[in-house]
Amino acid sequence: MQISGSLFPFSLFLAFILISGASSAHNKNDFLECLNLQFQKSNSESDSIYTPQNASYSSVLQSSIRNLRPESNSRQRPFVIITPEHESQIQAAIYCSKKYGIQLKVRSGGHDYEGLSYISQTPFFIVDMRNLRSISIDTEKNTAWVQTGATLGELYYTIAEKSKTLAFTAGVCPTVGVGGHFSGGGYGMMSRKHGIAADHIIDAKLIDANGQIHDRESMGEDLFWAIRGGGGTSFGIVVAFKVKLIVIPETVTVFNVTRTLDQNATQIVHRWQYVADKIDENLLLRLFIRSINSSNGKRTIGAFFTSLYLGPVDDLLPIMQEKFPELGLVKEDCTEMPWIEANHWTVLLNRTQVSRSYFKGKSDYVKQPIPEYGLESIWKFLNQEDANRAELQFSPYGGIIDDISESEIPFPHRSGNIFMIHYGVGWSQEENAESQRHIDWIRRLYNFMARYVSKSPRAAYFNYRDLDIGMNNIKGNTSYKQASVWGFKYFKNNFRRLVHIKNKVDPTNFFRNEQSVPPVSLW
Ligand code: FDA
Repeated sequence: MQISGSLFPFSLFLAFILISGASSAHNKNDFLECLNLQFQKSNSESDSIYTPQNASYSSVLQSSIRNLRPESNSRQRPFVIITPEHESQIQAAIYCSKKYGIQLKVRSGGHDYEGLSYISQTPFFIVDMRNLRSISIDTEKNTAWVQTGATLGELYYTIAEKSKTLAFTAGVCPTVGVGGHFSGGGYGMMSRKHGIAADHIIDAKLIDANGQIHDRESMGEDLFWAIRGGGGTSFGIVVAFKVKLIVIPETVTVFNVTRTLDQNATQIVHRWQYVADKIDENLLLRLFIRSINSSNGKRTIGAFFTSLYLGPVDDLLPIMQEKFPELGLVKEDCTEMPWIEANHWTVLLNRTQVSRSYFKGKSDYVKQPIPEYGLESIWKFLNQEDANRAELQFSPYGGIIDDISESEIPFPHRSGNIFMIHYGVGWSQEENAESQRHIDWIRRLYNFMARYVSKSPRAAYFNYRDLDIGMNNIKGNTSYKQASVWGFKYFKNNFRRLVHIKNKVDPTNFFRNEQSVPPVSLW
């Protein structure tokens, strides 16, 4: 009795594991067969399907990954990657994914901070948009259609090939993908004058959970609102965005100036907070702060002022002398050049020049200047890590960002923010065994910063994705309560509208991840 009593549940458990293991393998095979069949029907090449048996599988998987941390912690790899060349292949992938219950992840540039486009806790496959990257520019209407597999560098380069006075306002890293970046916001060096990328989206092509292709008119204004900052991944697969280009002067001015503690870095950074969001909106004065080794071998703090001015140096200097004399900017610090060169145009088209590392990032919004003693405490935190390992970026707001309402699009960080802080800490593969120490460090700094940053909610930037601020239970049904924890931080009150739209367009939660908007009826 005793033996059979203990064996019975065990044998049942074993049988369950065997059956579920077999059925999941069965599902995967059926899914693959389904894909092949659907691709054949649409006359598509099946060489856009990569399984682990394929020699190129690993290089395709790794190629666009920027942060190696999420994958190194992940137990699952995608059992298929597809690189569609046509929309019909995406429709086929959605059809087979639904039929066999295999989770779909979509990846454009692969720069997600937490790797949500290429890792998952459940069996999954990737729709990788790399081959859908055409860009067409209309220089008469100042618009562009850009497919989401394109990178920012490819977009900037293509615009500059057509015109010296047209540009686009988006992020600074050339390998970031259009798909994740535009649908999650898109802040860059012209954002004080021209806003963020999502502010300029005027149409889009999206495939919904039923495999139907929509443009702005057929998707309706609610869904079109949601994908301009609310993250594409909760609502469908965005194939392309149509954007309004911006007009810029033929010559812009850039400068990079560094100040260390013995050059009054603390006082200058403190003063910067009173200037950066109010100064002429043609000027974006960004600040990078690191603990560095000084020439005498001692540690110091380096404040690196990196700026873009939309105009000539002779217009910039009087502005700086009047509003920010403390920096002591002189003409020799400045260089005039075409906008495209300010983007290091030689690397714009190099997709393989993704510099990889292990890192953890977080973000905050600052509404009141941090006092000097607060900055000094931050310097102490930076000195706890090795020189040059950790970095703070202070990105100023103000300018046109202040003039746009919080609910215009889901990106809500508008008037009242002086600047956004990006916290980052990175380490090499050899140091990865000690990753937890660095992650603990950035979490301690983040906890300390609570007293100086926005509250109720403590806001965060969706594109600097951070699973520490909350996540969905991906294996169960995500509750509204659970998702609200991270949802209000990224989107403030716009989160409710996003939930409502999700409930309308994807009630079965087909498009989901650890931080996707849940479908719940709130009305
Ligand atoms: P990735 O492909 O990883 O996708 C990110 C998310 O979007 C995932 O959830 C994915 O499923 C979803 N997604 C991707 N394509 C989709 C599609 N076609 N349809 C629907 N959903 C889709 N940000 C910023 O504002 N300014 C900046 O200057 C920078 N700079 C920067 C530098 C570096 C080195 C990194 C790693 C990141 C940045 N970022 C940034 C953050 C960047 O904007 C953010 O990580 C974007 O989500 C990256 O978009 P990708 O398409 O590259 O990522």
